[in-house]
Amino acid sequence: MSNINYDYIEEYIRSVIPRKTDNLFKLRNFAIEHNVPIVEEETEEFIKFLISIKKPEKMLELGTAIGYSAISFTKSSDSIKNFTTIEIKNEMVEIARKNIEEEQLNSIIKVIEGDAAEVINELEDSFDIIFIDAAKGQYEKYFNLVLKNLNEDGIIICDNVLYKGMIANEELVNKRKKTIVKRLRNFLNKISKNKEYQSSIVPIGDGVLLVRRSN
Ligand SMILES: C[S@@+](CC[C@H](N)C(=O)[O-])C[C@H]1O[C@@H](n2cnc3c(N)ncnc32)[C@H](O)[C@@H]1O
Repeated sequence: MSNINYDYIEEYIRSVIPRKTDNLFKLRNFAIEHNVPIVEEETEEFIKFLISIKKPEKMLELGTAIGYSAISFTKSSDSIKNFTTIEIKNEMVEIARKNIEEEQLNSIIKVIEGDAAEVINELEDSFDIIFIDAAKGQYEKYFNLVLKNLNEDGIIICDNVLYKGMIANEELVNKRKKTIVKRLRNFLNKISKNKEYQSSIVPIGDGVLLVRRSN
C-alpha cells in the first residue's frame, strides 16, 4: 500500500502494464526477494514515456541499487548514449555491474561508487535528464549540486517525493522518518514556489517530482 493512490488503482495500472519477458522480470523479482527498493512499475513506465519524448543522449542517476532502473531506462531508448549512475554501497555496485554486464550495456552504463554528493562535486559532464533516487533526506542538496550538470533544457526527475503518503498527511508520519519528511516538504515547497523553475508533483508510485528551468 503506497498511501498515495487507492490500492485498486495501483493494481489496475500494474495489471495493464505488459509483463516483462526479458531479464528485467528476473531483476525485479531479485529486488523483491532481497528487499532492495527499486522504481515502482508504474513510475518506471512513466519515466520511460518521458525518455521517449525527451530523447536524452546523456542521463545521470543518483542511487543505482541493483542497476534495475539504469538497465530499464537505457534499454527503452536508442537515444541514450551515456548513462552514469552513482551508488554508495559497494555490495550494490558489484551486483549492478554484474547485471549491466549480463545485458551487455557496459559501454553505455557507467556505475560510479561513492557518496552521490561527493561524486557530483567532481562530475563535470552535463546531462539531459537527471534522476534523483538516493537518500531522500538529501534531495534538496542533490538538486542544488546537480544543477551545474543539467543541460539548459534538461529535466530533473525525483522519485519518492510523497514518501508513502507521509508528506501530505501528518497522521501517516512515522516518528523515525520525521527529519526526512520535514526536509522533503521544505524541498517541495521551495521548488514549487521558485519562479526560476517549472515543476510538477505527480502522484504516481511513491510520488514523482519533475523540474525544469523556466523559459
Ligand atoms: C531506491 S534505491 C535506487 C533504486 C534504483 N534507482 C532502481 O530503481 O532500480 C536507492 C539507492 O540509493 C543508494 N544511496 C543512498 N544514499 C546514497 C548516497 N548518499 N550516495 C549514493 N547512493 C546512495 C542506496 O544504497 C540505494 O541503493
